[in-house]
Amino acid sequence: MIFVNFKTYQSGTGEKAVALAKICQKVAKKAKIAVIPVVQAVDLFRLTSQGLAVWAQHVDDIDFGPNTGQILPQAVVEAGAKGTLLNHSENQLPLEMIKEIIKKCQLLKLKTLVCADNLEEAKAIVKARPDFLVYEPPEFIGSQTASVATAKPEVIKDFVKEIKNVSVLVGAGIHSQKDVKIAIKLGAKGILVSSDVVLAKNPEKELLDLAGGFR
Ligand code: G3P
Repeated sequence: MIFVNFKTYQSGTGEKAVALAKICQKVAKKAKIAVIPVVQAVDLFRLTSQGLAVWAQHVDDIDFGPNTGQILPQAVVEAGAKGTLLNHSENQLPLEMIKEIIKKCQLLKLKTLVCADNLEEAKAIVKARPDFLVYEPPEFIGSQTASVATAKPEVIKDFVKEIKNVSVLVGAGIHSQKDVKIAIKLGAKGILVSSDVVLAKNPEKELLDLAGGFR
């Protein structure tokens, strides 16, 4: 599976997010693998109301009540999201809060993809049983030269060996079919990618190339 994090890139916002999500859907059909757009909360309903399956980038540890400006998990579910990303290095959360949010999401049947930038943090997070755990070393985010796959193969091996009962994905600097092939060969179940696709001149061609890494 490929999660595509639209972040707040202009090419992943508003009507452009719709166009990019449709490309993800098209490539998923062609490549016969899951390609999941991870979009801003404000764009969720714009996409789901057009029949596009998308995930949120974050939800807060809150319930109905006076929480101005925060992202309510129940509202994300009502907007039609299938799941949410949590603890991205650009929006990190304390461990206890991650665990509370995972519990809330489980009750709401909202799937969770939780980021960790080291094995110790990952081991603590998986005790709360997220659906997916993604190893993402921040130093390679946005890199077009090095990636988690080429720079951290040993750490990926350790994650796959030590993280049981939760699918391990990897992300950061993924920018070629070779990166995907290395990650899958090391035992990762999928990737989390952003700039290589969202900022690409031809996102469809780029996504198809990455999808080829699963064959
Ligand atoms: O969430 C994915 C992201 O942080 C990785 O970014 O641009 O290196 O694929 P990028």
